[in-house]
Amino acid sequence: MTATESTDVMRLALAGKPASHRPVWLMRQAGRYLPEYRDIRSRAGSFLTLLKTPELAAKVTLQPLSRFDLDAAILFSDILTIPDALGLELDFAPGEGPWFRHPIENPGDLARMDREFPDARLDYVPATIERIRRELPRNKPLIGFSGSPWTLACYMIGQGRAREFGDACRWLYTSPESLNELLLLLAEHIANYLIRQIEAGVDIVMLFDSWGGLLPASRYREFSLGPASVVLERIRTYQPEIPSIFFARGAGSRLEWLRDLPARCLGLDSAVPLGQARACLSGSHVLQGNLDPSALYGSTENIRAEVCRMLNEMKEESGYIVNLGHGIPPDVDCEKVGFLIDSVHEESSQRSKHRC
Ligand code: CP3
Repeated sequence: MTATESTDVMRLALAGKPASHRPVWLMRQAGRYLPEYRDIRSRAGSFLTLLKTPELAAKVTLQPLSRFDLDAAILFSDILTIPDALGLELDFAPGEGPWFRHPIENPGDLARMDREFPDARLDYVPATIERIRRELPRNKPLIGFSGSPWTLACYMIGQGRAREFGDACRWLYTSPESLNELLLLLAEHIANYLIRQIEAGVDIVMLFDSWGGLLPASRYREFSLGPASVVLERIRTYQPEIPSIFFARGAGSRLEWLRDLPARCLGLDSAVPLGQARACLSGSHVLQGNLDPSALYGSTENIRAEVCRMLNEMKEESGYIVNLGHGIPPDVDCEKVGFLIDSVHEESSQRSKHRC
């Protein structure tokens, strides 16, 4: 059996085929809410060391699968590895998130990036994947990922998140040609990077368009979906059997524009009513999502009720993947995470007594 055969529940769902139960995995399933993550992270000294040391990054990837009955693993890494390799130099300020030592302040800075950086700068990523694949059971697919071109540009231009990405949004009007040039350069690097991940052993690729929702309607297709489609098309041409997931955060009011997006699956945030998304997309994509991450602070009764609500809304769909609408918050109780995963399996299992 090869890793790309659709034999596990996750890949059956991505192929739109029914399975013994609904697959579930969770964005940020490897992270600070897990005591074993906090332990390895403090021993590594910094998030960046953890990320760039294949032995440690592989261990962290596998941590949530040792604890919970998850249906997929996601590579432990970050979306900001490509801008780092382009010479912007990633760093993390404690408690404040990511920042770059050399951000792009103006269009002239585009020429100063290491536009053709050597592959070796990202070698730690395929090295991590090879280690994970050696330990991960064959029936658990490994998800590789990157940020979308627009989302990476949001972090790279000016002060990024510190100014709510206002600098990138300003370029839409002050320097649209330079912004397009950056997005196309990123699309090229992202596609190459995802292809390297596939060659190293990932079974599924995911593109995080986490900040697509910042774009005004009049610019969303040109600056988010356009360059993302370039990436997705290249993956599809390279390996048609590798499914792709597009995390369309903030796309709720413009889902109909995603009907032709060349991805197998759309990840939805918690603002989108699942039933409405189904009706709007009418089967163009398998859907993934979208429990509010804050529901993990609530009671187990409420978590089970939310699981039932989602499963019911999606019961006519042969393929559906349960996930959160965004990442697991760092301070939730890991018992609740386990409860969520088990509830999805119990309530969606064909043999279940619970069945909502
Ligand atoms: O999902 C997983 O378990 C895989 C690992 C993963 C991380 N980041 C680990 C991480 C993935 C898939 C990402 C993607 C990522 N990174 C995104 C897209 C998803 C999204 O959230 O919309 C974005 C925007 C980033 C950029 C990033 N990295 C931010 C904004 C932060 C700080 C956020 C925070 O919670 O502090 C990070 C750091 C980061 N990435 C952590 C982890 C586990 C926390 C690092 C730590 O231990 O301090």
